[in-house]
Amino acid sequence: MKALYRAKPQDGVWWITGASSGIGRGVALEAARRGFRVIATARRLDVLQELAREADGLSGHIIPAVGDISDADGILHLVAQIEADHGPISLAFLNAGTYRPVNAHPFDAPAFRMMFAVNVGGTINCLAAILPLMCGRSWGQIALNASVAGYIGLPRSSAYGGTKAALIAMAESLKFDTDACGVTMQIVNPGFVETPLTAKNDHPMPFLMPLDKASKLICDGFETGGFEITFPWQLSRILKFLRLLPYSIYFRLVGRATQG
Ligand SMILES: NC(=O)c1ccc[n+]([C@@H]2O[C@H](COP(=O)([O-])OP(=O)(O)OC[C@H]3O[C@@H](n4cnc5c(N)ncnc54)[C@H](OP(=O)(O)O)[C@@H]3O)[C@@H](O)[C@H]2O)c1
Repeated sequence: MKALYRAKPQDGVWWITGASSGIGRGVALEAARRGFRVIATARRLDVLQELAREADGLSGHIIPAVGDISDADGILHLVAQIEADHGPISLAFLNAGTYRPVNAHPFDAPAFRMMFAVNVGGTINCLAAILPLMCGRSWGQIALNASVAGYIGLPRSSAYGGTKAALIAMAESLKFDTDACGVTMQIVNPGFVETPLTAKNDHPMPFLMPLDKASKLICDGFETGGFEITFPWQLSRILKFLRLLPYSIYFRLVGRATQG
């Protein structure tokens, strides 16, 4: 097995998807503070341009580019263009995603399809563009942004949690191959972080973390290179413990705790 690769500023640029808001935006700024050049992509160019201006004066910088992760051909073209214009992508943080709570009845099939198309299908489109390049040169670092909601089925999370469980399983499985070709595969499993996405929640969010703190922890995790980056540790450990329980106890416990 090759040594674990960790991106350094001189190696190339970072590519962050979903960088116009929330975690992607926070990590882009933190990376620029740490001296990295970041290609920040999302669908809203005006917001990305504002972000690039906010990074003025930091030791690294942020370059905005439009990219809809659900457009497979568009993402292939975007990645080729990034590398042609700015050099190799040393780290890809595949972060873009979306969330909507759903119920069994009424069953909102379009919401399920939309979340699977963006969170899973979009991430696959990004992997299809970047993996061949990184594996071809035998170095690179890729992190998928999943969620602790992917550990186990939580109430109202059958669509979102399903997409995040898929990403966790994908990253675990891909790691066997990427290790062999010198590419570091990581999974980011945040709990609740203060972003526009969680602002929609009307339920309690235990251990809700400020965005700055979460962004630093993610960048620290990229530097150390361990497979899983998860926080806050309290929520992550509680959910990991719950998934060890027999289903009969799990459903009773979580059902009671989240009633209403
Ligand atoms: N906040 C949390 O507590 C939390 C916890 C666990 C995991 N996560 C995960 O973290 C990631 C970011 O979440 P967030 O809280 O930062 O949410 P957010 O503030 O809503 O940001 C979502 C980002 O994804 C982008 N995006 C959405 N659809 C896209 C598409 N089709 N193509 C390209 N970009 C797209 C959005 O940009 P445009 O609209 O400009 O395209 C935006 O930049 C998500 O994958 C989410 O599931 C969040």
